Amino acid sequence: MKNILITGGGGYIGTNLTNELLSCNYKVTVIDTFWFGNYLKKEKNLKVIKKDIRKLSDKDLSNVDCIIHLASIANDPAAELDPKLTWDVNVLATYKLIDIAIKKKVKKFIFASSGSVYGIKKEKKVTEELSLEPLSEYNKSKMIGERILLSFNNYIDLTILRPATVCGYSSSMRLDVAVNALSFSALNEKKIKVFGGRQIRPNLTMKDMINAYKFFLKKKFLKGKKLEEVIFNLGFENLSIIEIAKRVKNTLNSDADIIVKSSNDPRSYKQHSSRILKAGFSPRYKIEDSIIELKKQFSKNKLKKKKSCFRINTLKIIKAK
Ligand SMILES: NC(=O)c1ccc[n+]([C@@H]2O[C@H](COP(=O)([O-])OP(=O)(O)OC[C@H]3O[C@@H](n4cnc5c(N)ncnc54)[C@H](O)[C@@H]3O)[C@@H](O)[C@H]2O)c1
Repeated sequence: MKNILITGGGGYIGTNLTNELLSCNYKVTVIDTFWFGNYLKKEKNLKVIKKDIRKLSDKDLSNVDCIIHLASIANDPAAELDPKLTWDVNVLATYKLIDIAIKKKVKKFIFASSGSVYGIKKEKKVTEELSLEPLSEYNKSKMIGERILLSFNNYIDLTILRPATVCGYSSSMRLDVAVNALSFSALNEKKIKVFGGRQIRPNLTMKDMINAYKFFLKKKFLKGKKLEEVIFNLGFENLSIIEIAKRVKNTLNSDADIIVKSSNDPRSYKQHSSRILKAGFSPRYKIEDSIIELKKQFSKNKLKKKKSCFRINTLKIIKAK
């Protein structure tokens, strides 16, 4: 498994994943519109195709062993902004991609779904067996993306990951995700603004996210796997937003005040990830490791607030064009 295609390889997770796979001697092709900038450095084993996945052709998938499919409209508010774009990218382009992948005999396909596909659940442990009750355009499009891919399960080695909210530094930074947002606000504004606070959110460090992709890349190639070998939750620290704020404050040893404001965001869920643990993957990092990394980058002046750190800002500009 040498030639890896990463769609969305220029994004928050994709940039780190691309760099890590290159350092492990994989040959990487990135297909991305680079809506939020291109922070990838030139490398002999890296091929960059600036292209919209809605316009993929067979040629783009020549000599690819594995696809890691990250390109999507990747959070709730951004996905609500232009539902048609969301469904075109997250669903229709996913169908096009797997269809070409099968034609071109790609061996493995790893899909970045989302832990938010479950919606709000009463159950204490949200496992992969529970029904999906997605609430937003984003969650719904991820669920349908999964269903489309599952219909091809007999023809390709398929893995669907449902990651929790990722935290940590990337040169293609996102500040619209909980731990990053609260850490940046403590570092930059000496205030930690919390909306709501009681909602529980599962978390995942960037390093464990990347390690999970590497883990599945190395797994033996197998078509037609059972569902329990295909779909995996990936979230380990289920914390209320207020608890995250306290951990940020303690880890940064900060005297920033925690300010609680009201929120109309009903999402609250605990993800249970024993299936992936049983499969042999173990997380090695805690959110505190990500917070320390963010502080380090902030002190080097590399963690700055740009418009594109809030994905919705850039997508508003694209929509207005
Ligand atoms: N960040 C998280 O906390 C998190 C959690 C769970 C799942 N995910 C999923 O992981 C994946 C990566 O997330 P991220 O945080 O890096 O998102 P991101 O928005 O930073 O990156 C997405 C990348 O895809 C590209 N892209 C979007 N639409 C495209 C198109 N039509 N054609 C080509 N490129 C396109 C963008 O330019 C961007 O570089 C997404 O699928 C997301 O839904 C992320």
